[in-house]
Amino acid sequence: MPIQHAAIFDLDGVLTDTAELHYQSWQELMDQLGIPFDRQVNESLRGLSRPESLEVILGSRSADFSDAWKQDILRRKNENYIERVRRMTPADLLPGVENLLRALRERGVGVAVASSSRNTGLVLERLGIRPLLDVVVDGNDVPKSKPDPGVFLEAARRLALPPARCVVIEDAAAGVEGAQRAGMRVVGVGPAERVGKADLVRKRVAEVGIEDLLGLFDEGTA
Ligand code: G6P
Ligand code: MG
Repeated sequence: MPIQHAAIFDLDGVLTDTAELHYQSWQELMDQLGIPFDRQVNESLRGLSRPESLEVILGSRSADFSDAWKQDILRRKNENYIERVRRMTPADLLPGVENLLRALRERGVGVAVASSSRNTGLVLERLGIRPLLDVVVDGNDVPKSKPDPGVFLEAARRLALPPARCVVIEDAAAGVEGAQRAGMRVVGVGPAERVGKADLVRKRVAEVGIEDLLGLFDEGTA
């Protein structure tokens, strides 16, 4: 029987703590450059593409730098990040994730990843969970990053499901907004200040139960 519903997971900060690795890479680089950066700025980068992240970090300083300089910074950020990702193992899956993915599959629910990251393939390979996913859409597949709904709509298209039959699990304000603009229900993972606009909020992904997701499907199809 074709799948009737799907759960679409964000990657960074939901399946694994790469949000922390992105932070460490930006922090190291900005320290070298003497450009102010901290965890608070980093919070606003969740879900944004690499170039958009750099613009947020530079803020009003952006105009002082050439495009060539920015390209070089983006390259260095990614090299630094990839070095960290290469050290990841399946043990870096966040607690509860593997059980949740397996439980969804056992119920016949489609499972997808929709991420703004262009390194999604590498991270999933390190985590060893690609065989548990029906569909993967990332920043290489869509022109705009979250809060644009495109990455979620492309996942629904590949799952051959209408958006109302998909539920998204997100840790970013931009991701919650993107999913809602796609016409999907969302579980926000993290503090209410960040993901409070979601249909349901959980502090950690380990606290997202399969019943939570099935409940949101029922609401969507009621
Ligand atoms: C995710 C993360 C962002 C990151 C973006 C791009 O959305 O939440 O913090 O900037 O992906 O990642 P990339 O791996 O392409 O630099
Ligand atoms: Mg995220």
